Amino acid sequence: MNVPIVENAAESVAGNAAGNAAGSTAGHAARNGAAARNPAAGARTVLELAGVHKSFGETEIIRGVDLALIEGERHAIIGPNGAGKSTLFHLISGQLQPTRGTITLDGRQIQGLEPRVINRMGLARSFQITNIFPGHSVFENLRFGILRRYGLQYNFWRRVAQVRRITEETEQLLEELRLLKSRDVLAGELSYSEQRSLEIGMALASDPRVVLLDEPMAGMSREETDYTVGLIRQLTARRTLMIVEHDMDVVFSLSDRVSVLVYGQIIATGTPDEIRANRQVQEAYLGTEVSV
Ligand SMILES: Nc1ncnc2c1ncn2[C@@H]1O[C@H](COP(=O)(O)OP(=O)(O)O)[C@@H](O)[C@H]1O
Ligand SMILES: [Mg+2]
Repeated sequence: MNVPIVENAAESVAGNAAGNAAGSTAGHAARNGAAARNPAAGARTVLELAGVHKSFGETEIIRGVDLALIEGERHAIIGPNGAGKSTLFHLISGQLQPTRGTITLDGRQIQGLEPRVINRMGLARSFQITNIFPGHSVFENLRFGILRRYGLQYNFWRRVAQVRRITEETEQLLEELRLLKSRDVLAGELSYSEQRSLEIGMALASDPRVVLLDEPMAGMSREETDYTVGLIRQLTARRTLMIVEHDMDVVFSLSDRVSVLVYGQIIATGTPDEIRANRQVQEAYLGTEVSV
């Protein structure tokens, strides 16, 4: 998907290419365990939350979150329902503004910026349903996502020259998503898990360095879950992933590190082994709600 291109997008594409190149190295380090276990050892922080709070009216939902994502890692956020996981994602992607605290992406503070600006800076999240056009084909949906990355404002002649490249990129994304056979199917007629794949694809169409997925396997059968985990693993091989997931098998097999959010605070961050062995986590969460 890293196609070097054109006027309006030149800056962001160059940025993404650089980010991905760096990310792949860090990613391997993280998955080898070294960077994940010892973030201080040369690994770069790509996304950092410091002292983040969020209140709705009188109620404080996020109560001082500090979190640093290492470039290339897959980082799961787990925690009971209502802990504030989705709220945290809304804060990072710009749908909500923190009441206090800072969120830094590649060294630039992003809290309070518009979601589309944060997206152009290299962070994408998938939204269930809302970013899909059910009356358009899978191909058209993805092409729209890619067009949005290039910006729609450039002039007609340049656009004509770019149509082929954008089509090629769309085909490539279709293949990565394993949706080639459904290329011309209306998005609204896809199977449940294919729709989830398309949603992930719409997030990836902006070629982000950091991807946020909020319960992408929700409502899936075991088989669909296994399939989608494989897809996510493949699609995020050269990116940084932050994922909210309830299925502990998935969390522990997919993640380099896990953070546990309980009642708006992170009570532990560590490797899957560290989290599994953490007494506080077992008491607060794993022991009660989930069997491991
Ligand atoms: N826009 C909102 N206004 C008021 N309360 C909200 C809003 N969004 C979420 N909440 C509350 O914040 C808490 C955390 O919600 P959420 O982030 O969705 O939790 P999780 O994703 O961990 O299940 C819940 O009690 C929820 O009712
Ligand atoms: Mg949620």
